[in-house]
Amino acid sequence: MAKTLTATMRAVAVTPMQAGSARQVELPVPTATPGTALMRVLEVGIDGTDTEINEGLYGAAPPGSDFLVIGHEALSRVEAVGEGVLGFEPGDLVVSTVRRPDDCPNCQAGESDMCLFGNYTERGIKGAHGYMGEYYCEAPAFMVKIPPGLRPFAVLLEPLSIVEKASFQAWKMQERMLWQPKRAVVLGAGQIGILCTILLRLRGIEVHVYAKSPSDSLQGRILSSLGATYANVDDHPVIGIREELGQIDFILEATGNSSVAFEAMPQLGNNGVLCLTGVSAGNRSIEIPADVINLQMVLGNRVAFGSVNANRRYFEMGVEHFQQAERQWPGIFERLITRRVPFDDFGAALDRRPEDIKTLLTIAQT
Ligand code: BGC
Ligand code: ZN
Repeated sequence: MAKTLTATMRAVAVTPMQAGSARQVELPVPTATPGTALMRVLEVGIDGTDTEINEGLYGAAPPGSDFLVIGHEALSRVEAVGEGVLGFEPGDLVVSTVRRPDDCPNCQAGESDMCLFGNYTERGIKGAHGYMGEYYCEAPAFMVKIPPGLRPFAVLLEPLSIVEKASFQAWKMQERMLWQPKRAVVLGAGQIGILCTILLRLRGIEVHVYAKSPSDSLQGRILSSLGATYANVDDHPVIGIREELGQIDFILEATGNSSVAFEAMPQLGNNGVLCLTGVSAGNRSIEIPADVINLQMVLGNRVAFGSVNANRRYFEMGVEHFQQAERQWPGIFERLITRRVPFDDFGAALDRRPEDIKTLLTIAQT
């Protein structure tokens, strides 16, 4: 009898909570079971969460596994579809969402990004293997089809979905009154800060970005081509921006520095809204001007809220906005891709350099 050889593939995995444990592993190539599709991964984006996982600060392996395949931002091509899969065929470009639902009412309503019980899994992050390998399988409910013209930068859809959700939520909250936002502040000029600036500029809002990079950096140049202003926080501390700018209607915090989050609160103008998106894995305590913050929040009807993850609705909005923004600023998204690293050099991709905006790990060229 002929022996069937299981095909194997390469992937990058960590031992969660163990610093510097990223390594290449060999795993069986999954097969497209009924109701799922097999994806060939083309490229994977690296973000701060991946770096934190590799620093041993975050992440959890799937039940019964002592390792976690990382990667949660991937552009892939459908290789094969299992029985009963409708709407996708081999060759289609796909970006899959990150979170998988538990049995809470929000997850069951398709909003696992608003999970109530916290037992969700996140591919490549928490309790489920990710996309940093040659293949993975997924169900259509979590697959977002990408128009072929978006191939060069569609890998940015997952981070874009994060700011789609954050801004959608802010605008939704502001339906509590008549709100005509004119001026926004973005704290941080990493991928999240820049992607949010793009969405705000598409809405015609005046945007001021404050971050650590020098103003002649690539970040600064990209932001000014979007018509946003860019200032270095060393010269323009967060605690002075309200005085500098006047009424601020919306602030996005995307530095991941928890003290900046508190500094930002009293900078909001009347009726303003502050959205926190930066994750801080540490345990740091700071002293805050509690009376001032409390008074400001109350007297100005201000809102501060946190936003995490994104369900597929926000990925779909992102596909729309990719197209709109490319019409307005051709080539804008490709400018954010500052480094492409071959699969075997995954270690170099996980090391963050100050000049990086987006680093991609190239897995297949097709
Ligand atoms: C991912 C989100 C995820 C969050 C927390 C982020 O890097 O983009 O999808 O929910 O980390 O794990
Ligand atoms: Zn849930």
